Amino acid sequence: MPVTTTLSILRSDEVLDQLRALRSRQPVRYWAFYSSQLGGIVTDPALMVIPFDDHMVHRGHGVFDTAAMVDGKIYDLEAHLDRFIRSAITSRLTLPCPREEMREIIARTAAASGKRDGSIRYWISAGPGSLGLPPAAGAAPGFFVMIFAGLAYPDSWHSQGLRVMTTTYPIKPPLYAVTKSTNYLPNVLIQMEAQEAGLDNGVFIDEAGNVGESSNMNVAFVMADRVLRHPRFDHILSGCTSLRLLDLAHRLVGGLLRGVEVCDVPVAEARRAREMLLIGSSVKVAPIVEWDRQPIGDGKPGPVAAALRDLLAEDMRAARDRLIDIPY
Ligand SMILES: Cc1ncc(COP(=O)(O)O)c(C=O)c1O
Repeated sequence: MPVTTTLSILRSDEVLDQLRALRSRQPVRYWAFYSSQLGGIVTDPALMVIPFDDHMVHRGHGVFDTAAMVDGKIYDLEAHLDRFIRSAITSRLTLPCPREEMREIIARTAAASGKRDGSIRYWISAGPGSLGLPPAAGAAPGFFVMIFAGLAYPDSWHSQGLRVMTTTYPIKPPLYAVTKSTNYLPNVLIQMEAQEAGLDNGVFIDEAGNVGESSNMNVAFVMADRVLRHPRFDHILSGCTSLRLLDLAHRLVGGLLRGVEVCDVPVAEARRAREMLLIGSSVKVAPIVEWDRQPIGDGKPGPVAAALRDLLAEDMRAARDRLIDIPY
């Protein structure tokens, strides 16, 4: 921002102009936004705002989750809402409204976007009212829903695979790792560190030397014995995508796989895997072909990654019990 000689006290119309100018300098693909504080939905990104003194902003006292919109439907929203509400309870946040109402607001905001494919992210905040630590006296929790284009990753992540590193940042203690709060500093740092090293992402390792997770994705391995092994969910986020894939993966047992296990995965063992997978709502399933500059397996994307990706794609389009129609 240029240094100005005069600092004006702005009128509300000037504030709006500034917010619009900010968005025109940096276009975003945010299509619709619900805010309990605004009492409705806005579609102009300049108006997608939250008061600075909401404790989610200045103390990180908030939780969030993200679900996918696929061809006019919301995929696996109940699993995401389970985790969202669990995270809110652990964070001692008051629920802004009953679950059914949250689901309804999410679906109606999705409809207001007019889009059929994209991402839905929603937050519960502690609310505004002070710059202190515990929620301000009389603070009303905030509920926000953003319908947007989703995080984009290079096609090469799927076609050629990713390269990752063991992060130098410590893994979150279990209580915070299993809670999807807006405190994402370690998650931001792990990805920045990897990018600065010319790599795609990082991997957290726990104090016992077992594999944890990546920045905003889980990791899993196909071991030499062709068992799919996934780290236990007691010290990492229970990824909705991983949970679903662990189920779907049973369809590969007897073919590409010999079994599916959720267990501790020691790093030394993981490095000998045939395949390493990155899993999450945004990336779906992508093969990791190199870890700390060493190839995983033969250093090429493997068949299990491709098969799981197909199974998930099929589930996201056809699993009627996991799809909610968006009420356009
Ligand atoms: C830290 C972390 N781990 C794993 C995941 C994967 O979870 P999901 O499959 O629900 O997207 C996410 C994304 O939400 C995450 O932020």
